[in-house]
Amino acid sequence: MRKIHVIGIGAGDPDQLTLQAVKALRSTDVFFILDKGEVKSDLVQLRRDILDAHMPEGGYRLVEARDPDRDRTAGGPAYSPAVGDWRSARAAIYERLIAEELGEDESGAFLVWGDPALYDSTLGILEEILDRGAVAFSYEVIPGISSVSALVARHRTGLNRVARPVQITTGRRLAEGFPDGVDDVVVMLDAHQTFRRYTDEDIDIYWGAYIGTPDEILVSGPLAEVAPFIEDVRAEARERKGWIMDTYLLRRNPGL
Ligand SMILES: C[S@@+](CC[C@H](N)C(=O)[O-])C[C@H]1O[C@@H](n2cnc3c(N)ncnc32)[C@H](O)[C@@H]1O
Repeated sequence: MRKIHVIGIGAGDPDQLTLQAVKALRSTDVFFILDKGEVKSDLVQLRRDILDAHMPEGGYRLVEARDPDRDRTAGGPAYSPAVGDWRSARAAIYERLIAEELGEDESGAFLVWGDPALYDSTLGILEEILDRGAVAFSYEVIPGISSVSALVARHRTGLNRVARPVQITTGRRLAEGFPDGVDDVVVMLDAHQTFRRYTDEDIDIYWGAYIGTPDEILVSGPLAEVAPFIEDVRAEARERKGWIMDTYLLRRNPGL
């Protein structure tokens, strides 16, 4: 039966690849690389660099496909259907890749940014393909270092405080209000710098962009003091590179 490896590759630093991931790479026949177009080509390049570094002798096939574009204008109630459509379009592409490019007894791999279990659609897409029933395969997930782990490591802080909870959420959710019952909140997928809504509260921020890459930027401090600086730095970096990936931890009542 066909076998798929879903390999977490870390969030930007090639050294974040685990030994388990390297073993999985070495037992893969075909790598599927989804290209998001010109803008994020750095992210595709990291995957190529990983293969060059760990499989210099070659012996594998690389199959590239264009990732479908998502309707990013859809907001409010249209947001979830837009994400669903995009996911189904991806499922159709992945299904074709697995059925047409992978022999019956071969193994293929998707190299997933960070950890495949965190805000990534690959596992859901593979389940969707299996549900459709047109192609059969087994799959294994190899965990990766997420941008959340990388962020707090670079800031040399913990995610949670002693015996207290931590929540990971999105910018979209944070815009609805600071989560109840939790003072430590990690925010991902925030295109709108939603932290700006909370500058009148006693909050520390630990912010990072392009973490683990040569472009890495880290800023931390009391939110009210550093928020304008983060806005400026973020805008400048986004303009220069054409895209940005940033994550941050908000720590409410930091003195407690
Ligand atoms: C689609 S999610 C993928 C998350 C990934 N699976 C992980 O484990 O980090 C993309 C979001 O992850 C965060 N992210 C990923 N890589 C990052 C990096 N190197 N630096 C800062 N944030 C990053 C950003 O919040 C970005 O919007």
